[in-house]
Amino acid sequence: MAIEYIKNSKIFHLYNNDISYVIKIYLGEPCLIHFGKRVHINDDVIKLHSEYPVSFLCQEDGEPPFVSREIIQRECATYGLGDFRYPSLSVEDGVKNNAFNLSYCGYEILETKEVIKGMPSLRGGQSLKIFLQDEDSGLRAELHYTIYEDCNVVARSVKLKNASDSDMNLKRAFSFCMDFDGCDYNATYLYGKHSAEANIEQIRISHGVKTISSTTGTTSHKANPFIALSELGANEESGNVVGVNLIYSGSFSISVEVNHLHKTRLTGGINDFNFDWTLHSDEEFATPEAVICYSDEGFGGMSRQFHYLYKNYLICSKFEKAPCPIVINSWESAFYDFNDEKLYAIIEKAKNTGIDIFVLDDGWFKGRNSDKSSLGDWETDTCKLKHGLKGIVEKCKDCGLKFGIWIEPEMISKDSDLYREHTDWALKNAYLKNPESRNQLVLDLTKREVLTYIKNAMGTLLRENEISYVKWDMNRYLSGNYSEGLKNQGEFMHRYMLAVYELCEYLTTEFPSVVFEGCAGGGGRVDAGMMYYFPMIWASDSTDANDRTKIMYGWSLCYPLSSLSGHITCVPNHQNNRETPLNSRFDIAALGAFGFEFDISDSDEADYISDFTKKYREVESVTKNGNLYRLRNPFQDDDFSLMIVNREQTCAYLWVYQSLVSYLRTPYRLKLRGLCPDKLYRVENLGLQLYGDILMNLGLQINPCYSDFESRLLKITEVR
Ligand code: DGJ
Repeated sequence: MAIEYIKNSKIFHLYNNDISYVIKIYLGEPCLIHFGKRVHINDDVIKLHSEYPVSFLCQEDGEPPFVSREIIQRECATYGLGDFRYPSLSVEDGVKNNAFNLSYCGYEILETKEVIKGMPSLRGGQSLKIFLQDEDSGLRAELHYTIYEDCNVVARSVKLKNASDSDMNLKRAFSFCMDFDGCDYNATYLYGKHSAEANIEQIRISHGVKTISSTTGTTSHKANPFIALSELGANEESGNVVGVNLIYSGSFSISVEVNHLHKTRLTGGINDFNFDWTLHSDEEFATPEAVICYSDEGFGGMSRQFHYLYKNYLICSKFEKAPCPIVINSWESAFYDFNDEKLYAIIEKAKNTGIDIFVLDDGWFKGRNSDKSSLGDWETDTCKLKHGLKGIVEKCKDCGLKFGIWIEPEMISKDSDLYREHTDWALKNAYLKNPESRNQLVLDLTKREVLTYIKNAMGTLLRENEISYVKWDMNRYLSGNYSEGLKNQGEFMHRYMLAVYELCEYLTTEFPSVVFEGCAGGGGRVDAGMMYYFPMIWASDSTDANDRTKIMYGWSLCYPLSSLSGHITCVPNHQNNRETPLNSRFDIAALGAFGFEFDISDSDEADYISDFTKKYREVESVTKNGNLYRLRNPFQDDDFSLMIVNREQTCAYLWVYQSLVSYLRTPYRLKLRGLCPDKLYRVENLGLQLYGDILMNLGLQINPCYSDFESRLLKITEVR
């Protein structure tokens, strides 16, 4: 891995063994020459740069004349230099009406990447900073690039500085801008809703702008800050794909624009809708980081790169490397209706089963008998729990379990002591009626006293009780946001996110051994920003195995499944009334961080817990660090199949799941992937021994199932 500057041709070359990212200073600004396979660079490479000699604007001394900026591949696009595409940066200084000329003025190479202050970002890597300035106004920009030795990604972010004497307003401060040659690409992204997250959509891009975004103050169930641009014909296994993911958990926007010269611009970052950030003299503003991933092995290759990167450079390594705690969660076991006896019975049943942690979900604090009250009053409800949390903790200890707890620190109920005391701590917009959602309001964490209160309240809770695990929930979007404390309301959404990150940073640093599980009404904040703090995230509120095949498949495009949690729950399923077989529920839950969520004290299905925990540990030894290969797409085939192969290629697990029985189905060959062609493998459940090349080229014969929602989880081990 290296970053080189070739002085004569003003070229920066970031590379590792597999990829190159090549930037040329052209027309005084950084332009992308190439991102993709590793290449050799010589001086003539710059002649390949597109030039379109028609522009009547922007001729500069010493540069080729009459070159339009509408065709050059700009790395930081401003408006007003004859490039009429939407820019990645929009700034008002009251004078220049957005017409900034950010020109190159230097660079720095850092052996160790800088952290982005106050925000999650990748760890490790070698970085390049390219410095730009607008001489007239004092606007400065630093473009940051980071490359990794063992992963085909480049991480990007921008730092802006106001070096003038007066205020400037950032109207758009995107994290990256990349212009690609031509427009023959597909765009693939995720959309969804509560309990139906991560649906995959693919479109052929065309002239104009396509934007995926959220305006909810979260990444949301509706969209996700991930997009892939792929060459036409690229598929799961082959073809060039560039995937982008933002390390950000708030409102975001990613756009693909094709202009009349058939150039494609991909740009994105914090959503600029309602965004307006006052940058006072001498102040800096850092954007979230964007991860740009290249794969020449189609979407599968892209996903494996993202997974590897996040496992090794994003998720906190002490959790990522350790086995995942197996939990029994009280939510679908009891909802709000429990007392000491009911919980003790569950805990006793979990004893000696391989379950590690009992997690007490919503409903444990003062008067919380439904979702209508009590958020903010983080003291134990002694009507339900006569011996307090301490009683539950003791019971857990007696039974060899650890204790975990549910919190929703960002929220406040109108019916709470906290609200009665501090009505002004809730976010309200005086001009909007009905600011509640799920009967709750959002705490205005942009106010220092509110953030300090909640830090202390959570700190006390964790300090005074022996808590090993925290499920951090967030059950509504931000709406009608208005903070009396802020001069510029356009800053609110991002400041809110920064406050959440500060709280995450505080709690995870103060309590380094506590495992945090992120959650936002299910999958409303499944994103790389949260994964930086929380090693696992609850994938969806749909716990139905059949729904989860799609949800997990969709999330797997970008996020490692081992960091997404899934539990065995009861049938009929609480969300959709569906009955799926117990072994299917296990197989699908075992794709990620595993647990149970039904009343195990009163169910025959609890007899199998020990078998499941044992089997999960075996599966996890492969899935935790393995490579994922998607084989059958449940969005297309009504079938779900994927396999995860360990890094040594000595062991793999294969999931084969069929949704509905149909007599039209016939046996088919499923070609496996990711194995070593020369190794002999045993397919344990089928009693077969076959070479890797046979398994991958001829495939296994899969017979149709004869009942709905049937699953098979096959273990494949090396014989020699
Ligand atoms: C939504 C979560 O996704 C559920 O698992 C549960 O924790 C409830 N909130 C509790 O209110």
